[in-house]
Amino acid sequence: MAARIISGTAVAREARGEAAVKAAEFEGQMGRPPGLTVVLVGEDPASQVYVGRKEKASAAVGIRSQTLRLPADTPQVELLATVERLNGDPTVDGVLVQLPLPGHIDQQRIIEAIDPAKDVDGFHPVSQGRMLAGLPGLRPCTPAGIVELLRRSEVPLSGVRAVVVGRSNIVGKPLAAMLMQKGVDATVTVCHSRTRDLAVHTREAQVLVAALGRPEAITADMVRDGAVVIDVGIHRLEAPDRPKGTKLVGDVHFEPVARVASAITPVPGGVGPMTVAMLMLNTVEAAAAR
Ligand code: GUN
Repeated sequence: MAARIISGTAVAREARGEAAVKAAEFEGQMGRPPGLTVVLVGEDPASQVYVGRKEKASAAVGIRSQTLRLPADTPQVELLATVERLNGDPTVDGVLVQLPLPGHIDQQRIIEAIDPAKDVDGFHPVSQGRMLAGLPGLRPCTPAGIVELLRRSEVPLSGVRAVVVGRSNIVGKPLAAMLMQKGVDATVTVCHSRTRDLAVHTREAQVLVAALGRPEAITADMVRDGAVVIDVGIHRLEAPDRPKGTKLVGDVHFEPVARVASAITPVPGGVGPMTVAMLMLNTVEAAAAR
């Protein structure tokens, strides 16, 4: 059986369209578009690519976005002052500080400085707490995008055994909370780098989410027949046989796993575009709530 390909690109287009409608409504009422400010500290190449995608999506949706590019040696006090200024700017509805930050900056300190009402990344402890409690609030974009992708692809989740591999604050932990939420109702197992007999757990999964951050780590023997497989990873590997000399792969060994799974997300074109689309929806939601 060949797996159905779950296209994040197509579903994200639909979600961005909804964000565009809400952005236009907001502008009609308020006389200005929703505003998103992204702060990028340093020159991390992957971060530059991600920030570029956020700018492009904002322009397409009708969100006024601005990127503040700060040098890698920006002192922490200066970054805190920048965040404070954005918190107080009435034309800025969403503030996103791109991670990772340079080593001399306390990342958590910066996350906690963002006004929770403008926390479009959903990383602030207030946002995390509201999510765990099942209260309305801004949700982290990647896990929210995964749940939305599954929902819009009509993958059943209620009562389904879901296994999340990875326990990061950005993906694994919040995704587990969202999947077990009332109304979603999956039965969730979280695996991580200290899990014994990982494959015993992953083989139980009807929905398997790979967010461990290791290229092609999930192999076909670890996947149950007919599972739905969501690949959160993205890695550039050397590939002398490819024109560019490199290729993008996920945390899942795609070809063999696609022969076992019933549905699978590709890399690229899976979870990545959904993350950006959810950021657009979070920004219009933050704007409308102010
Ligand atoms: N770096 C990798 N993913 C993310 C994300 O979702 N938000 C931010 N701010 N930085 C990231």
